[in-house]
Amino acid sequence: MSSGIAAQCPAWSIPGYLEVHEGHLAINGVDAVELVKEFNSPLFVFSEGRIRHNINRLKRAAEVVDRPIKFCYASKANSNMAILKAVLDSGIDCEVNSGGELFKALRVGFQPDQIIFNGTSKSDEELDEAVRAHIYSINVDSIFEIGLVENAVRRLRERGEEVPAARITLRLVPEIGTRSHLGLQTALLTSKFGISSSEVLAAFRRGLQNPDLLNVCGIHIHVGSQTPDVEPFAEAFKSMWEHLMTIHRETGHTLEHINLGGGIPVNYLRDRTQADQLPEHERDMLGAELEPADVLKEAMRVARESARAAGAEHLLDQVSILLEPGRSIIADAGLVLTTVNNIKTRPETGDVWLLTDAGYNIMLSMNNYKWYYHLISASRAAEPYASDYKVAGPLCDSGDVYFDIEREGRLPDYRRLPERVGPGEILALLNSGAYSLAQMFHYNGRPLPAAVLIALDGTPKLIRRRDTYNDLVTNDVW
Ligand SMILES: Cc1ncc(COP(=O)(O)O)c(C=O)c1O
Repeated sequence: MSSGIAAQCPAWSIPGYLEVHEGHLAINGVDAVELVKEFNSPLFVFSEGRIRHNINRLKRAAEVVDRPIKFCYASKANSNMAILKAVLDSGIDCEVNSGGELFKALRVGFQPDQIIFNGTSKSDEELDEAVRAHIYSINVDSIFEIGLVENAVRRLRERGEEVPAARITLRLVPEIGTRSHLGLQTALLTSKFGISSSEVLAAFRRGLQNPDLLNVCGIHIHVGSQTPDVEPFAEAFKSMWEHLMTIHRETGHTLEHINLGGGIPVNYLRDRTQADQLPEHERDMLGAELEPADVLKEAMRVARESARAAGAEHLLDQVSILLEPGRSIIADAGLVLTTVNNIKTRPETGDVWLLTDAGYNIMLSMNNYKWYYHLISASRAAEPYASDYKVAGPLCDSGDVYFDIEREGRLPDYRRLPERVGPGEILALLNSGAYSLAQMFHYNGRPLPAAVLIALDGTPKLIRRRDTYNDLVTNDVW
């Protein structure tokens, strides 16, 4: 076993959070191998300290601009109740994408004026719930949906419920590309989201028709997730700002806020030892180091320039900014611990295969987007990573592998780990806190894993109990 300071501080480590203690991975000082002994495998582990750290970084970024900023955590990234509570306790607000997420946000204690509701296809029931709760904003995705929100207000009033005019924000799609995966880009005209630029004015005029039913309070865009550059954010903000000026000029209506969405990237390649196996564009996207402060500064700079040229600075000075960060709060605050259950060699290819208990049913992005989660040995975290393995999960699907089965090179063909990894060894998939737990499913009758949160005082707390076999059949009727 190698020793020395360098070996104790691998590139993936984060002082005070992800470290090596006595050869094992430690999360806020808690031994990962001991966690698996106590809570079994596979296991999600989250750090409340890291969630706080990430939120504080965003709050500090807000100080570089002179407009108020409302942060609404994108709960789709991870809506476990204890995670939502940790976010609530840190003092920011919440974005939801369904009646279910709205229910969870209210249930955990977010106040209605802390909640915004996105979605391309909300049901009447979901709109009733949002209108009844009188949330900060329902983000409307089409001109047609404006009428649906009006109907919800009317419907509730007819039933004798006293509901005020619903606050709505219109989501636009002004054709802004990013360097993220196509499936994660949401401001392209080919995407399913938002109202086209050519229909913006008509949409706002429509929204303003019945002020007793609707209060049109903002304008919204989300360029997409894991956006590695400042420019798309700045371009999007400028575009929203210019629409806001046009709406003011043409209708006399002043919008309260511009919502710039989420998309601040996470550096998945803190340890770049396997990055050379990824295509350059993938490497640039996954390894992005983008400071939220730089995004906000540049967005505000271009809007201020445009406002000055139009003589509309007084208007900009009335606007507040909303952001909907998800990934940047929770991705590197979570990891998956998984056990090697089986091993095999392929003499024909010389490969050694490690078969783990963590399949894509608990990390869908690894299959959907061939997303790279850096893999380490939690049992032997500081040993030299000198051997290459084919790694795969337990699902009955050839695609349940930790490499790119389609040979497009989006993942390394082999994962580098210490020598002689074998059954019983605990591995860790780092940075896997976002869009993982929230997207799990029971394929192959696999009970979903438990999750633990290391609280601020360093105590591991169970925040999701492991499914039992009974959970697999509770909703089946036979
Ligand atoms: C409308 C909207 N807002 C916010 C987010 C969160 O994005 P991210 O997790 O990249 O911050 C998403 C997810 O893509 C989204 O669709």
